[in-house]
Amino acid sequence: MTNVAIVFHSGYGHTKAIAEAVAKGVEQVAGTKVSLIPAGEAEAREAELTAADAIVFGSPTYMGGISADFAKFKDWTSKIWMARGWQNKLAAGFTVSASWGGDKQGTLHQLFTLAQQHGMLWVGLGLAPGNNHSKGSVDDLNRTGASIGVMAQAHADQGIEGIGQSELRTAELLGQRVAEAAQRWQAAPLAKAA
Ligand SMILES: Cc1cc2nc3c(=O)[nH]c(=O)nc-3n(C[C@H](O)[C@H](O)[C@H](O)COP(=O)(O)O)c2cc1C
Repeated sequence: MTNVAIVFHSGYGHTKAIAEAVAKGVEQVAGTKVSLIPAGEAEAREAELTAADAIVFGSPTYMGGISADFAKFKDWTSKIWMARGWQNKLAAGFTVSASWGGDKQGTLHQLFTLAQQHGMLWVGLGLAPGNNHSKGSVDDLNRTGASIGVMAQAHADQGIEGIGQSELRTAELLGQRVAEAAQRWQAAPLAKAA
């Protein structure tokens, strides 16, 4: 069995909906088990993170970066960092914000840096950018043209119905990619560095 954990914070439900879409994608790969962990529960559910072959990080973009609640989780992981507990696990990330740009890149860079501090290996989105030519549309996959992870857009005045189906499908594909990569990785992992 390959284990994938998704740790996320969501103030108003949008990031949670993206996290659930990532989980759906993971579950499409036979032989994988997914743990959806709200950032506030990470300490109590540390064993699921320890058992994970891959951890996917998700935060809304608040003021151009990760949310304060996700930052609290990030800082808590320093105790795991001290023991190199997540060394050589796979990692990936996603964010959502109201604006199409919205400085989401800043959030993904923070998630990527967190993974690199832990010695994890990053799995990028792996999708061509959508919605960037005259025949493109907001229904395209990867409609914000991300590469590091999912950069979803959700209208500020709506709940999860304001998230496009293309965003949810893009998130599913990230989950599937991470699960497939984790299976390959689990079969032949790197030796742990001292
Ligand atoms: C404190 C705060 C700061 C925000 N900052 C940004 C921002 O920098 N860029 C942006 O496009 N949207 C911003 N938003 C909008 C949220 O990113 C957006 O509503 C997102 O979908 C919220 O996700 P959540 O429902 O999981 O909390 C902000 C919202 C809040 C509450």
